[in-house]
Amino acid sequence: MRKKIVAGNWKMNLLDEEVINFIVDFNSRKNEIESDSEIIILPASIYLDTMISMPDWDIKIGAQNCSQFNNGAYTGEISAAMLRDFDYDSENLHYCLVGHSERREYFNEQNDVLAEKVNRLIENGLKPIYCCGEELQHRESESHFDWVQAQIEEGLFHLKEEELKQVVIAYEPVWAIGTGKTATSNQAQEMHAFIRSLIAKKYGDATANSISILYGGSCKPENASELFDQPDIDGGLIGGASLKVDSFIQIINSF
Ligand code: PGA
Repeated sequence: MRKKIVAGNWKMNLLDEEVINFIVDFNSRKNEIESDSEIIILPASIYLDTMISMPDWDIKIGAQNCSQFNNGAYTGEISAAMLRDFDYDSENLHYCLVGHSERREYFNEQNDVLAEKVNRLIENGLKPIYCCGEELQHRESESHFDWVQAQIEEGLFHLKEEELKQVVIAYEPVWAIGTGKTATSNQAQEMHAFIRSLIAKKYGDATANSISILYGGSCKPENASELFDQPDIDGGLIGGASLKVDSFIQIINSF
């Protein structure tokens, strides 16, 4: 059985007090959670410590980015080893996003650099959540499958089978992120099945069937159930709707 996952990508939102309020509120409403999916929150790195230190907080935590380099003169960067070091004992920090479309767009991150980030994370025992997804122009010119195929092959297909099994994939059509436009459940299912078929061709069916593929892009309480009902959609990477406890819990309960 593939792991069901709901991950909240907080992006560059919430300050310390808001992070604490979210956790306290979420903890007090844990009894409302009816799903056994894995819940992950990806706060800004500066608040990872706040999250790790909160009592009774057993939700998994992830970072939003790491460096492709091991260490050295890379001002402003955080290495995968630093992330691992940060939470060595309590093991709450399990994940890190790689290749979110905002990093691809604003920080010019290309597939080859993202492949290196994936390597650094795996070497340090962290699980990459590898993001892919086409822009509107690709869908309109019907090159969206080729675009996503290149992102998957160039970012991930250098991995050995056991390494690939550490990866979670998030399909996020760029035209749906933060826009209120969601891919229809058919469009999302079609791309998820395509991604799984690429993995099956390269690594075999068993591996393809073990990898969780999340949908992201304006996922909200109103559309989460229909998306999560699709056979190849194993959960969601949630932006805006993960910033409020209420909508986040409703999405978690959409399985
Ligand atoms: P959104 O963001 O849910 O606000 O569209 C999703 C994401 O960028 O991960």
